[in-house]
Amino acid sequence: MKIGIMGTGYVGLVHGAVLAGNGFQVTCMDVDADKIKRLTDGITPLYEPGLDELLERGIREGTLSFTTSAKEVIQSSDVIFIAVGTPAKDDGSANLAYVHEVAQAIGKYANGYKVVVSKSTVPVGTNRTIARYLDGALKSRHAPFRLDVASNPEFLRQGKAVGDSRSPSRVVIGTESEQAKRMLQAVYETHIREDVPFLYTNLETAEMIKYASNSFLAVKISFVNELALLSEKVGADIGDIAAGMGLDERISPHFLQAGPGYGGSCFPKDTQALVDIGRRNGEELHIVRAAMTANEKQKSRMVAKIAEQLSFDGTLKGKTIAVWGLSFKPETDDIRDAPSYAVINGLLSRGAAVKAYCPQGMKQAQRQWTELNGLVTYCESEADCAQNADAIVLMTEWEQFREISWDILAKSMRGNAFFDLRNMFAEHPRVRRLFRYYPVGSSELAYTLEEAK
Ligand code: UDX
Repeated sequence: MKIGIMGTGYVGLVHGAVLAGNGFQVTCMDVDADKIKRLTDGITPLYEPGLDELLERGIREGTLSFTTSAKEVIQSSDVIFIAVGTPAKDDGSANLAYVHEVAQAIGKYANGYKVVVSKSTVPVGTNRTIARYLDGALKSRHAPFRLDVASNPEFLRQGKAVGDSRSPSRVVIGTESEQAKRMLQAVYETHIREDVPFLYTNLETAEMIKYASNSFLAVKISFVNELALLSEKVGADIGDIAAGMGLDERISPHFLQAGPGYGGSCFPKDTQALVDIGRRNGEELHIVRAAMTANEKQKSRMVAKIAEQLSFDGTLKGKTIAVWGLSFKPETDDIRDAPSYAVINGLLSRGAAVKAYCPQGMKQAQRQWTELNGLVTYCESEADCAQNADAIVLMTEWEQFREISWDILAKSMRGNAFFDLRNMFAEHPRVRRLFRYYPVGSSELAYTLEEAK
């Protein structure tokens, strides 16, 4: 079975590389000629642990190739995965222009039976529309074969994508075709753990599972973030609250980590898109909307808290703030919808000078946040960033921050405030002693009592 992947973003590339690593002949297509050239030379366009090695191996063993020709991929593949972007439009709806382009190319160039599989997150009904469109396109060409469509949403997490693709929590296959089902099963069975459950549904249900899962996780995070804000006021500790809640297996301990708000390429976009799908169908999704509102509030409350602690009047003029971590989560260089962007803008608008350091995200920040170039000083290391700063604001929980020589770093600073927006050092006695330490979701009172023990 030959595999074609349309789109070499993070989902397409990881999926293609994993399948090539399992012996499938995989061709990845992208319209970006420069990217395809670099990929052909073995240069990975994004930072994802383990991906470099897989790409290098696929290229070396000849199982993985890249092209800009849609026709070539479509005609040489039995299964075509659509993994192009579906970015949010201004009104929150998903932009399906790239998905439509791919569908048109398949309708035009398909030369025999194939399974067309959506990996991209697309609004409910999109795959049904693609199926109808392809039927029509084949009829108008008098083609003597059919194409089957399947929705096969992707649940990979950035930073853990290679491992996740071998050990997914589930494989969801939405299709009404037995042949498509069997072929997809055969694709997955080569590389996933034996006990991974397969769920077979219709197209619409598979599409909804993806939005429902991401939105539910966003709701969980916003819920715990709101409780974190309340905990700071009433003297409770959100870490203990989350632990206490998580012991109930109906709640589960996962995704209850308070922080500066969720970001990334999925949660902000997918919650918006689900609300938009609801509206188009006459249903207001109040809970998802509330999670989105709470997420915006969380980011601005982080800025307000920093300003309140560093000055009497809420302005930050004359203060230098070191921001650690720009990517929306560790082990990725992705800064899409990262809370660090809102926090940095908030700090700048209150008059602070901002220095920033991120192990992987700085190149993307300089490239994408062009309006911040010249306003933010990007630094070589955490220590360089903290030098002469009044405060550190930890935005992303990179493991390497645990290796810091805290005494030397504290001495090099002008002030000693440490806003740990990921509660990474809540249990670190040295950090707590050296700095005025502000975690998320526990008050000074809870802290003082803890220390007194
Ligand atoms: C998410 C989904 O987890 C994945 O299944 C889907 O395929 C794509 O979207 P990802 O965006 O890679 O994956 O990151 P994830 O680890 O889910 O984190 C998303 C955001 O939520 C990050 O900003 C993270 O910091 C934040 N988060 C996560 C919290 O603030 N608290 C938590 O407890 C968990």
